[in-house]
Amino acid sequence: MKTHSIILVFIGVVCVSGQINRHEYPTPSDIYNLIEIHVKQDDRQQPDYYGYEPVCPDAEDIFPCVCTYDSLSNAMDLNCSAVESQEQLKQIFEADFPSMNFREFDIKHNKNLKVLEAGVFNGISFEKFDIRYNNLEIIEVQALDSSYETATGITLYENNITSFPFEELSQFSKLSSFAINFSPLSVIPADAFNGLTALVNLHLCCNDADIVGTFQDLPNLRYIDLGANDIPAIPANFIKSGSSDLSYLELYSNNIVSVEPGAFDNVDGLDINMGGNSLSTLDEAAWRPYLEAGGILEAGGNPLVCGCDIAWLFGEDQLLEQVKRGATCTDGELLQDLDPSIFDNC
Ligand SMILES: *[C@@H]1O[C@H](CO)[C@@H](O)[C@H](O)[C@H]1NC(C)=O
Ligand SMILES: *[C@@H]1O[C@H](CO)[C@@H](O)[C@H](O)[C@H]1NC(C)=O
Repeated sequence: MKTHSIILVFIGVVCVSGQINRHEYPTPSDIYNLIEIHVKQDDRQQPDYYGYEPVCPDAEDIFPCVCTYDSLSNAMDLNCSAVESQEQLKQIFEADFPSMNFREFDIKHNKNLKVLEAGVFNGISFEKFDIRYNNLEIIEVQALDSSYETATGITLYENNITSFPFEELSQFSKLSSFAINFSPLSVIPADAFNGLTALVNLHLCCNDADIVGTFQDLPNLRYIDLGANDIPAIPANFIKSGSSDLSYLELYSNNIVSVEPGAFDNVDGLDINMGGNSLSTLDEAAWRPYLEAGGILEAGGNPLVCGCDIAWLFGEDQLLEQVKRGATCTDGELLQDLDPSIFDNC
């Protein structure tokens, strides 16, 4: 299984304030729980229903989808996990819908649906899409268009997606949590996210994808997981969100060989996880400004040469203190255990 082989290569460790124990490999359910927590946090923005009570369609008109009304939050959810085909899903949305605005759309463990077609939702809007453990392969351009102005969370977890309309993401003006994980995507265009001002949590791990372009202008970003993809050379300005709340940047298991100077936001307290990559050095030009700004670096599982190239970490400014224990030289010795005097002649 693809999923399991990806997990085996995790050397980096996912952690968000204790939600996952450090020094353990993240499992798919760990990653899913993180998404779940982030989507729930987004619930704090309560929808405004203008006092109307939404009304579910007649059950037989939308079978095998099931509409449920939650009177506590005055919201309707739609569960289409049992849908038999794309044609059937399309037909269901041609039924009479007394209320057009739903809270959540669910499809889970569905083996039948391969494509979400353009216009399938026929004007019905959702705040959240929870689509996981399916054989879904293609999400067409404009499949989700009726939710441009309502969607706050889109979760696409452990499907078989090879095609997603990233170019359309900028239309989702309220999107605060986006996740596409464990799908065989070949390319993820970073620029597609630029300017999503509501985006707080971005989960793109474990797709084994080339991540091309740069992430810019995401002023509310807090968490970004790009782990287990393929980004051998991190370019300048790779992550310049401009967010002062940025707390975690996961880049574990990405075959990273080099990091250009100025690649990341310099944010006090930001934790960048570079675990399990192919870095042979921690380049001063790339990392000094970041550590001086108060950033934290995880670099375990990299073949660090530990020559004069890292002497700068052992200077009077003690920047090594901001490199987490776990980073080792190729002989397995922890950076923290090196005798600083070995750098005296550098
Ligand atoms: C959605 O429907 C499926 C079967 O159609 C059911 O197994 C599942 O529990 C439902 N999920 C929720 C959240 O109601
Ligand atoms: C995933 O999609 C590919 C085609 O892109 C297909 O060959 C494969 O069988 C699918 N896997 C599953 C589990 O459906």
